[in-house]
Amino acid sequence: LPGWHRRVVTWTGTWPSAGDFARATAVILWHRRPDSLCERALAACPRLDWVHSLWTGLEHLPITALLERGVSVTSGRGTVSGPLSEWAVMAVLWGIHAVPVTQRKWGSRRWEPTSHRDLRSATIVVAGLGSVGGAIARSLRRLGGRVVGVRRRARPSASCTAVVPLSGLPEACRSAAALVVALPSSASTRGAIGAPVLAALPDGAVVVIVGRGSTVDEDALLREVASGRLVAAVDAWWEEPLPPSSPWWDLSGVLPSPHSAAITPELRERQASRAAQNVERYLTGRTLVAAVGRRDLAEMAVRSQAR
Ligand SMILES: NC(=O)c1ccc[n+]([C@@H]2O[C@H](COP(=O)([O-])OP(=O)(O)OC[C@H]3O[C@@H](n4cnc5c(N)ncnc54)[C@H](OP(=O)(O)O)[C@@H]3O)[C@@H](O)[C@H]2O)c1
Repeated sequence: LPGWHRRVVTWTGTWPSAGDFARATAVILWHRRPDSLCERALAACPRLDWVHSLWTGLEHLPITALLERGVSVTSGRGTVSGPLSEWAVMAVLWGIHAVPVTQRKWGSRRWEPTSHRDLRSATIVVAGLGSVGGAIARSLRRLGGRVVGVRRRARPSASCTAVVPLSGLPEACRSAAALVVALPSSASTRGAIGAPVLAALPDGAVVVIVGRGSTVDEDALLREVASGRLVAAVDAWWEEPLPPSSPWWDLSGVLPSPHSAAITPELRERQASRAAQNVERYLTGRTLVAAVGRRDLAEMAVRSQAR
């Protein structure tokens, strides 16, 4: 794209100058603290009209201010669904093949056969059927599992035998061997997986969290896992990093990942390609990829204010 590099100021470890900020109309949040870069850009770029985040979850950004200023927002939505769905499938299999039960017995030197489940005769509920949940549902379906999806609009999906709204979760969970949570954090999803949903799951079921921890009632899940009734695989936590005093460190029946299940050597390349693709589209006046709608931003903004 002729001359485009002259119009892009790169991040070099120190803040761009006040003049660069004043001229900027767009910011790529390529920074360890995307929220602080975004806040600074909002304050210092009077002409700001587009912000791109490398990541998918956006609730940490100053959403209300972005909405008020009418700034377009795009994200890395879809750049991690491959590796993250693999991790989620691995976690479902870890649960239904009773690996934590076998490990517990093995740890006390007991040679005692464990009863496994067969994915082909299991029902798995996948809450959230977007880029992440949709990829998980497709993989589980390919392996022969029966998938019940949860989304806002109960549109049918080729990977799911049924699709229900959040209100249908307790009923859907009653016969599920696994519940995979791939929901974003918003006013309508916070705490959506509460004690009644968890209580509806049969004994021995696995809860896999790859969306946001805030969508699950942490205390209710802790009680279920501590009692040994359910097991849990968690990549997205309620507080990150997990505080040293957290009971999750010492619990058995937990498959932990410090929010790194999607991090592979190819991730930066995929994120950079998405950003470059959108920069090119922006400079040539074309529609941006992975634009986040105002309705979704507004739901996140309610959540940010409530915090
Ligand atoms: N662990 C990680 O490293 C990691 C990586 C990437 C993303 N994430 C998290 O995963 C979340 C999902 O990512 P994504 O790319 O799949 O998002 P997405 O494509 O926007 O999909 C979100 C899904 O959630 C559903 N949903 C939203 N609100 C709902 C509600 N109130 N009731 C029922 N369903 C609802 C949507 O339903 P509709 O289909 O009806 O719109 C959609 O199916 C992100 O927001 C992020 O927080 C985590």
